[in-house]
Amino acid sequence: MKRRSLPAFLVVLLLSLLSLSFRRSLLLPRQPPPPLHPAAGDPLLRRLAAAEGSGADQVLADAAALLVNGSISTFPSFGNRQRLLYLRLPYVRPAGGPPRPRTVSRLRVPLFALPSDGSLLASFRASLRSFLVAHRRRRQGGGGNVASVMSELAGLLGRRFPTCAVVGNSGAILGSGRGPQIDAHDLVIRLNNARVAGFAADVGAKTSLSFVNSNILHLCASRRAATAAGCGCHPYGATVPMAMYVCQPAHLLDAVICNATATLASPFPLLVTDARLDALSARIAKYYSLRRFVSDNGGSVSNWSRKHDERYFHYSSGMQAVVMALGMCEEVSLFGFGKPAGAKHHYHTNQKKELDLHDYQAEYDFYGDLQARPETVPFLDEAQGFTVPPVRLYW
Ligand SMILES: *[C@@H]1O[C@H](CO)[C@@H](O)[C@H](O)[C@H]1NC(C)=O
Ligand SMILES: *[C@@H]1O[C@H](CO)[C@@H](O)[C@H](O)[C@H]1NC(C)=O
Ligand SMILES: *[C@@H]1O[C@H](CO)[C@@H](O)[C@H](O)[C@H]1NC(C)=O
Repeated sequence: MKRRSLPAFLVVLLLSLLSLSFRRSLLLPRQPPPPLHPAAGDPLLRRLAAAEGSGADQVLADAAALLVNGSISTFPSFGNRQRLLYLRLPYVRPAGGPPRPRTVSRLRVPLFALPSDGSLLASFRASLRSFLVAHRRRRQGGGGNVASVMSELAGLLGRRFPTCAVVGNSGAILGSGRGPQIDAHDLVIRLNNARVAGFAADVGAKTSLSFVNSNILHLCASRRAATAAGCGCHPYGATVPMAMYVCQPAHLLDAVICNATATLASPFPLLVTDARLDALSARIAKYYSLRRFVSDNGGSVSNWSRKHDERYFHYSSGMQAVVMALGMCEEVSLFGFGKPAGAKHHYHTNQKKELDLHDYQAEYDFYGDLQARPETVPFLDEAQGFTVPPVRLYW
């Protein structure tokens, strides 16, 4: 009897303890443990900056549409010396009627040295699929997952580099005489295939990594895919790797074509940026833009999206290259990023206007924080085991 009553008593005790803790958890929702360090930056701006803009949704929708409905066809052209390649999507007219093919991209390609239309489409779709998988997985993974890319960047070129220079294209660098100082770095990153010939005294001549947005590759492939093996889009030397941020999924086709015509003598070494690095750069750029807006507008954030259209707002190539360098280097020096009054927009072009889609002032604020107050930079603090390396700005 005794043997039976004891377990019954224990069961009652257990039930009452369980119900007590259940009621407690109803009344007192469990608090998460306080973080070891409070998150860097303003909590509200962090939350707003982490929200995905509609531009990012559009990029994924474009990639999905190309994957499902894209078609590729090529036709002999230029007196049978080249082919014209069309990438098309069906366009459903608002007025109704059957869809018409709409050309998304048109390229001149070589007559022979290219796989069949069908196998080009297969490679393009494989490339779209991995792009989509990476970006969707990143979205499902939530916040901390984004910063995890920082500790993996050192693996991109096989090792971490002691000293790195990121050379921005600002006209401020003209007359600086920084060329030899830049070339003395172990890793030199240049942006968007900016010309160095004729500017070596100010910008240097060495390049270890060429960072571009995919528009740059598309423009280059449009001109050269038909005539240059591997498209010849590596102006700093055929073996200098190119890191590319994909701003339009259709540009992945340019990469497929350049890769398909590449040879040992004219290779096409390409690294597509990690989906997490894209998201991390977007968050940091938006955070600093929001912060600047708030301080310019008496503390109110409510009209930020009136000034910066979320469909187009974007970090600059230079900013993403800087974030990338933080993960690849033990020390990072920035050259040619400022814009003093009267300086040209680019040292190598006569472009007058800054692009509206970037908030360059906000990006300068970010670089200033990297140099003077790295612990205040939001989102980088979510990267486990990563410390911001020392950053020096040379305007
Ligand atoms: C592919 O085309 C069909 C027919 O026009 C359309 O209904 C569908 O939404 C498209 N798929 C994607 C992913 O855009
Ligand atoms: C690039 O080309 C090589 C050789 O043709 C091929 O094996 C490889 O899969 C291609 N890579 C991509 C990303 O298309
Ligand atoms: C936002 O912009 C609108 C239209 O320009 C203006 O009327 C409103 O006062 C602004 N709100 C704030 C909080 O600045």
